[in-house]
Amino acid sequence: MAKILVATDKPFAAIAVKGIREVAESAGMELVLLEKYTEKSQLLDAVKDVDAIIIRSDIIDKEVLDAAKQVKIVVRAGAGYDNVDLDATTANGIVVMNTPGQNSNAVAELVFGMLVYGARSFFNGASGWELKGKKLGILAYGNVGRNVARIAKGFDMDLYAYDAYTPAAAIEKDGVKPVASTKELFETCQIVSLHIPATAETKGSINFELMNSMPKNAIVINTARKEVIDEAGLTKMFEERPDFKYISDIKPAIDAEFAAKYADRYFSTPKKMGAQTAEANINAGIAAARQIVDFIQNGNEQFRVN
Ligand code: 3PG
Repeated sequence: MAKILVATDKPFAAIAVKGIREVAESAGMELVLLEKYTEKSQLLDAVKDVDAIIIRSDIIDKEVLDAAKQVKIVVRAGAGYDNVDLDATTANGIVVMNTPGQNSNAVAELVFGMLVYGARSFFNGASGWELKGKKLGILAYGNVGRNVARIAKGFDMDLYAYDAYTPAAAIEKDGVKPVASTKELFETCQIVSLHIPATAETKGSINFELMNSMPKNAIVINTARKEVIDEAGLTKMFEERPDFKYISDIKPAIDAEFAAKYADRYFSTPKKMGAQTAEANINAGIAAARQIVDFIQNGNEQFRVN
């Protein structure tokens, strides 16, 4: 009987786990759960005798893969798979998939929750400003970026986007103005929402020069990955631009320092919350389970990323 391990440091909602179990068991497979683990050794132990693994932002490195002797497939229930060592999985003959789009509405909704919080002075009593009519720049127009645009229209915002891989016409079709570069997006927009993956190309790419080119009362909102921000540049922004705010769903390494020094201009969630809704957990978790069943039973490799 094939065994599927759900290894989630940050657990799915119980209802999502129930759904994942139903998919696995109705396909004649066994489901094993490892939630809220605190030591890597627990993960190393849990992967030993399973055929498939479902993870979230859990780190799957060479050591884990070497311990996972029977594993044929790892599915990241979510979008970004920078937490999986793709070279090592490929070397071990393991298929890696993600579940694109399944949690993107949840992330996009959080953007607006945090944006209103930031624009309203983190509810500290000081007068803030409204989103209506403000220029919002969406950096990368993928599944999350498109949902951000859809919701932003309800706030009557003026929308801009840059995406190196999406044709301008596809962006324009949504009533969003495509710009020619990341530079132009930052120069144009008072608010920039980041939706780029963490890759060799994007890591550290959001630097001081870009952020400092933003108009007055700028907000950068990051629900993507902390690695895309140049933290030295971010520190300089806080020092040199008293009008600048940074709002994040992935704590920068210098979170404590920012929180202490810039409480009225900085906020980060204590734990990444973007995809942490029952709906997103159900969508991504069940999609992951179905992809595993379809791969094991039929060899379907749709959504393979390695
Ligand atoms: C993703 O890449 O899908 C999001 O960052 C969500 O990550 P999480 O599943 O760890 O919350």
